[in-house]
This record gives sequence, structure tokens and C-alpha cells, in this order.
Amino acid sequence: MSTAGQVIKCKAAVAWEPGKPLTIQDVDVAPPKVHEVRIKIVATGVCHTDWEYLYESGKGMKSRPFPLVLGHEAAGIVESVGPEVTKFSPGDKVIPLFLPQCGECERCRSPKTNQCRKNWANMQLGVMADGTSRISYKNQQLYQFLGVSSFSQYTVVPDTSLTKIRCDAPLDKVCLLGCGVSTGYGAAVKTAKVEKDSSCAVFGLGAVGLAAVMGCQVAGAKRIIGVDINPDKFEKARVFGATECINPRDHEKAIQEVLVEKTGGGVDYALECVGSPVIMNAALESTAEAWGTCVIAGWTETETMNIMVEKILMGRTLKGTYFGGWKSVEDVPKLVDDYMNKKLKLDEFITHNLTLDQINVAFDLLKSGKSIRTVISL
Ligand SMILES: NC(=O)c1ccc[n+]([C@@H]2O[C@H](COP(=O)([O-])OP(=O)(O)OC[C@H]3O[C@@H](n4cnc5c(N)ncnc54)[C@H](O)[C@@H]3O)[C@@H](O)[C@H]2O)c1
Ligand SMILES: [Zn+2]
Ligand SMILES: [Zn+2]
Repeated sequence: MSTAGQVIKCKAAVAWEPGKPLTIQDVDVAPPKVHEVRIKIVATGVCHTDWEYLYESGKGMKSRPFPLVLGHEAAGIVESVGPEVTKFSPGDKVIPLFLPQCGECERCRSPKTNQCRKNWANMQLGVMADGTSRISYKNQQLYQFLGVSSFSQYTVVPDTSLTKIRCDAPLDKVCLLGCGVSTGYGAAVKTAKVEKDSSCAVFGLGAVGLAAVMGCQVAGAKRIIGVDINPDKFEKARVFGATECINPRDHEKAIQEVLVEKTGGGVDYALECVGSPVIMNAALESTAEAWGTCVIAGWTETETMNIMVEKILMGRTLKGTYFGGWKSVEDVPKLVDDYMNKKLKLDEFITHNLTLDQINVAFDLLKSGKSIRTVISL
């Protein structure tokens, strides 16, 4: 029986207030409005950014409205479409996107950026284009997260924040392309544009950092140095292509000095995948004078970097990357193809598979460094 046009009752993990674990609730998901698509979420990853919005809200992250349904790294199936939706039909396999690609704005028309701003202000406020959310609990509106909210069995997204993928793609794997893996991989191949035979350092070996390591390897880098304070991550880093790994805590000197010495002047590319201004500085200072490039993928919204001007003056480049620089709607299906063609690894990122009612365990595993990615099945 079709559920199109009806309110769907389902389970969602609700963040009632910052700093508190999520609660599983029975929620109502309204039908999609104009240019919106309702999807059944099949699998979702748990990203560090979800954790940060819950536990760092008003600290490292800006304050956002609660109650909130988190989750933004997912894959699912279209259940129904709203008026004027032309690109999606019920049954399509899709990946929702926290970065839209409307295809029409000035930024979408430029090859220089992926930073589409369609529905942006509303998405930051947790609502859709009409100023309301589609998810509610006993008539109380639950805000949506980055336009996605995948910690819910059903959600509604704008049709510009969704991409259709091939029907043979395993959703419990390709969900990782909704955020972490695409971000880290793109940070290396698209934003840094790592060159063949170059030397690279990747700071932070979580999913984003490991994907950056993989990007450096695919780009043909000769030396890929993984840096993490948790040595348990080193084995995985080697699987993704790290040629050596360093724990900053094993050294008396600052990590940037260690790297500059080790490489005889600094690495060609440094990728920051932690989200800490101190490490961003270390990453920048570990690059070679004259041509070193440092790319920041780590996410913080309120903190500032304190850069010694000379580091930039002498020819280094500092860049940030959002969603790895990918044009979300057009590039994610290509990344799915790369996975299906074995150019890109995904399975190796998944250390745990859990169910929605175990979502807080997934956060604990992430924070304690025991997981790379937990995939939650809904
Ligand atoms: N730019 C984007 O579009 C985007 C997208 C997704 C995630 N992110 C951000 O990327 C960052 C990483 O996300 P993740 O999901 O891989 O997180 P994660 O928690 O799985 O990994 C972070 C890693 O950093 C390591 N680390 C912590 N302190 C360190 C230090 N001082 N030196 C070296 N390593 C250190 C941890 O041990 C861990 O292995 C987060 O800040 C997240 O918010 C950004
Ligand atoms: Zn994420
Ligand atoms: Zn756009």
C-alpha cells in the first residue's frame, strides 16, 4: 500500500538538548512539499560532525536550535516526491546531501567551487524552504540537521540536496560517500590536487583522514605520513596507503619540526582532518616553504587560527575544503561508480554495524577512538 501523501509514523533518534544522549522516539514525517523528496533511510554513518553538533553546540560549533534529528551521512530509497520534482521517482536509490547543488546559481555555474547556497540559511536553522521542518513529535517540530536528518527511518529533503545512484550499489556501504569518505578523498585529490611522487602528511586518521590517505595514494604520492595521537589507527592507515605513521606524543619536539626534519624541508601537502586550530597550524608549518599546500578538512565554527604571517609569505598555500570540493549531485554518483569499480575502498572504513537504538553506543565508539565508522541500519 502506498504511503504517498500520508504522514508516516516511524522511529527517530532525537537530540532534545545539547550535551545529552539521543532518545529513540516515535515521530511523524510529513509528506514532501514542492521541490521536496521523502526518503526511507536504509543506512547511515555516524560522523564526527554529528557528535560535535550535539556535544560542542555553543562551544566549537555555533548554537543551533534543538530538539534536533541529527545524521547526514546516509543512503536510502525514494518513498514519494512532492510537486514539481522531476529528477526522482519512488524506488530510486539515493544519497542525501548536506551540501546542495542546484545547478543554477552563480557558484554552481562556476567550476571553481562546490559551495552552492540553495536553501542554505534555512538549512542552517534546521528548516526547509517554507521555514518549517517535516519531522515532528506529538505536534512539536523537530529541527532537521544540515537539510538531511538521517537518524530517522524516514526524512524529507530538498530535491537539490539529493542524488540518484546506480541501483546495484549497496546502501550500507555507499552511505559513507554522503560525508566522511568523500570529504577526505576529495580533500586530497580535488582540493589539494596531490601530485604524483609528492610527499604528504595527513593529520588525524579517522574516516576523513583515512580517506585523505587513500586520496594521496590514488594520486600517486610517494610518501604518505599518517599522524595521530592514537596509535591504534596506524594499522588501518597502512591499509589505505600510509607509508609511515607518527604519534606526536612519542616526540619531544613539535610535530611540525619532526616532519620538516624527516622530509628534509617539509611535505608538499598537509591535510588537517582533526578539527583543531593548533593542529591546523602544525599542518601548515609542516609543509615545505615555497610550494607547500595545507588543506583543512577538520570542522570548527567558532575557533580561530593564529598564523605566523611569514609562513604564508614564503609561498605556502592554505585552503579549506567543504565536502572535499565535490559538486555534490554530479560527483557522488561517480564516486559510487569508483567504489563499484574497486578504485575506491569503502568496506575497510566500517568497523561496526549497529541498529538505531544503539546510536549512543556509536557516538561512544567514535569518541573513544575504537571505531572508524559505525554504520547504523534503520
Ligand atoms: N570539511 C568537511 O566538509 C567535513 C566533513 C566531515 C567531517 N569533517 C570534520 O573532519 C574531522 C574529522 O572527522 P572524522 O569523522 O574523521 O573524526 P574522527 O573522530 O573519527 O577522527 C579524528 C582523528 O583525529 C585524531 N586526533 C585527535 N587529536 C589529535 C592530535 N592532536 N593530533 C593528531 N591526531 C589527533 C583522533 O585520534 C582521531 O583518530 C572533524 O572535525 C569533522 O567535523 C569535515
Ligand atoms: Zn559528516
Ligand atoms: Zn547552486
